[in-house]
Amino acid sequence: MTAVNKIVVLGAGNVGGSLAQRLAEADLAHEVVLVDIIDGLPQGKALDIQESAPILGFSTRVVGTTSLDALDGADVVVETAGLARKPGMSRSDLLEKNASILKGHAEAVKARAPQAVVVVVTNPVDVMTYYFRQVTGFSPSHVFGESGTLDTARFRTFVADALHVAPRDVTGFVLGTHGDTMVPLLSLTSVGGVPLTTLLPSHRLAEIVQRTRSGGGEIVNLLKTGSAFYAPSASQAELVRAVVRNEHRLVPVSAYLSGEFGERDVYIGVPAVIGRAGVERVVEVALSPEEQAAFRGSVEAVRADLNVLARMPG
Ligand code: 2OP
Repeated sequence: MTAVNKIVVLGAGNVGGSLAQRLAEADLAHEVVLVDIIDGLPQGKALDIQESAPILGFSTRVVGTTSLDALDGADVVVETAGLARKPGMSRSDLLEKNASILKGHAEAVKARAPQAVVVVVTNPVDVMTYYFRQVTGFSPSHVFGESGTLDTARFRTFVADALHVAPRDVTGFVLGTHGDTMVPLLSLTSVGGVPLTTLLPSHRLAEIVQRTRSGGGEIVNLLKTGSAFYAPSASQAELVRAVVRNEHRLVPVSAYLSGEFGERDVYIGVPAVIGRAGVERVVEVALSPEEQAAFRGSVEAVRADLNVLARMPG
């Protein structure tokens, strides 16, 4: 099985820790490095994961460190560091604090892993991905954000539940920002090839769309002390696998637009082909007038946050 030499996961919180576990178990790299500023946390989680290797049979070496020197020569970097939401907060409330954390990381990635493909997870993800790209100066294809794969997984779960079918048989797309203005594309959702709109009445579809939009918040309200990490890390691992194994997966990610969907100079959730070079291309799909208006609203929400970012000192 194809594996790269080194994957670095920045941030050893719940998302980073559970992602490192998934990456190691999938044997996607010779070495998975978990980095965090809290001494002991990345080392402890890495050792704990490593000690599962004899049982699970993976050969990945898992290392924890507080030093960004570990980025040296990384093939893939996943940025998970930053604060998570508490009940009542929007993802945008995290913007300034998380941007200040990402800045140092992006500078270190630029210096130490100039060839890396970077997956950004930190919220608000569309804005943080833009910022990470800007600070590194990397090609936009080498930096993309994880959001739509997670939102789509939630959407597919709720559809599967409503229809009592296997979740993996539901395919679909959630576009736009990873936030309240995301756009689940009902017209492109099918169950084993059967269009979803023929299987559920419109009021049930509307409920599922609403639950998907507030899917992250639903978990935050239940956990009370943090946000989701099992489905997020599964979705991130799927993207890392697509890069490492050059799978050319067509999935929704936060990608840089230069004219596609009528927008430029913004990162937002769109269908894209992901392989060893990162985003190989953005795939444009025809949107209904309603979907188009919703997508535009989503882009405006991201631009508003980008303006806040542009006014931040330093
Ligand atoms: C979520 O939707 C944390 O934004 C992430 O759960």
